[in-house]
Amino acid sequence: MKTIFSGIQPSGTLTLGNYLGAMKHFVELQNDHHCYFCIVDEHAITVPQDPVQLRKNIKNLAALYLAAGIDPNKSTLFIQSEVAAHTQLGWMMQCVAYIGELERMTQFKDKSDGKDAVSSALLTYPPLMAADILLYNTDIVPVGEDQKQHLELTRDLAERFNKKFNDIFTIPEVRIPKVGARIMSLNDPTKKMSKSNPNAKSYISMLDDENTIMKKIKSAVTDSEGVVKYDKENKPAISNLLSIHSLCSGKSIEQLESEFAKLGYGDFKQAVGEAVVKTLKPIQERYHEMISSTELDDILDLGAEKANLIASKTLAKAKRAMGLGRKR
Ligand code: TYM
Repeated sequence: MKTIFSGIQPSGTLTLGNYLGAMKHFVELQNDHHCYFCIVDEHAITVPQDPVQLRKNIKNLAALYLAAGIDPNKSTLFIQSEVAAHTQLGWMMQCVAYIGELERMTQFKDKSDGKDAVSSALLTYPPLMAADILLYNTDIVPVGEDQKQHLELTRDLAERFNKKFNDIFTIPEVRIPKVGARIMSLNDPTKKMSKSNPNAKSYISMLDDENTIMKKIKSAVTDSEGVVKYDKENKPAISNLLSIHSLCSGKSIEQLESEFAKLGYGDFKQAVGEAVVKTLKPIQERYHEMISSTELDDILDLGAEKANLIASKTLAKAKRAMGLGRKR
């Protein structure tokens, strides 16, 4: 059975993009893979966080993972900072990485652009991400398209380490979904849907209520053509809404194009909104049950224990290979 690892930052409410690009696939993968899903709180602190809010966001994300369908009997769900091997191997991977390649990461460039005080960890974020993945002998990493460059670097760092020291790391493959790898902003389809956008109309939060979802979809930008057709280049807004509908309803893009061939954007948006509500409503209901349940802490304790078992073994091998500590 192949091993899967992926992580999500607890940096506020998740968007429909996080769900359709990542979490939804995690749920499908857990049936026939050995899965680790992580709440990457150490990645979240590379940008300023309010400590009280961060703690809340960590718990909320755990509840959301479970509400979306992550089954703790099938997958290991845990918090990154509760498994010390992540930062330890992260440091070692920093020693393998070059400053130049880290400075070339587009996410670093975007997040540091125009800011005076940028934490050094924003630059060294990808070696920590590499450590997350490599600790579990991961074969496949399911992520949205925006993480592709980080995954390429992870592979480079693992290969460099294996060649220089000892062949201990599995080289992971990235898995990006065919549809929905990059869900776009509702008011600017040239930009990724992101929770950091100050305009809340640009994204759908996984916890938005029915009314808010319908309103946001109805106010989404379109084009002046009036034709529901998938054409990413020339019709990015409609193509984005088609992807969202397709992923939520399970209908193919072609099926949707013919269904809406004789209808206008008004009817189409109504249907997109309804498909999103139908997808998110049951998750929201389970989320509210999970957030107040005492089970959550037990699941996270067990997850950290299971993750620690394998992570500490890989860390010991990597330390030995690099010559750290004493021979035992
Ligand atoms: P994060 O927390 O920004 O996003 C979590 C996941 O959601 C995907 N995603 C999207 N997919 C489609 N359309 C969108 N608009 C969209 N926005 C976000 C992301 O691609 C991601 O899969 N660095 C990672 C977290 C991380 C990680 C890891 C991932 C840390 N260590 C190890 C995999 C393996 C991040 O910031 O994701």
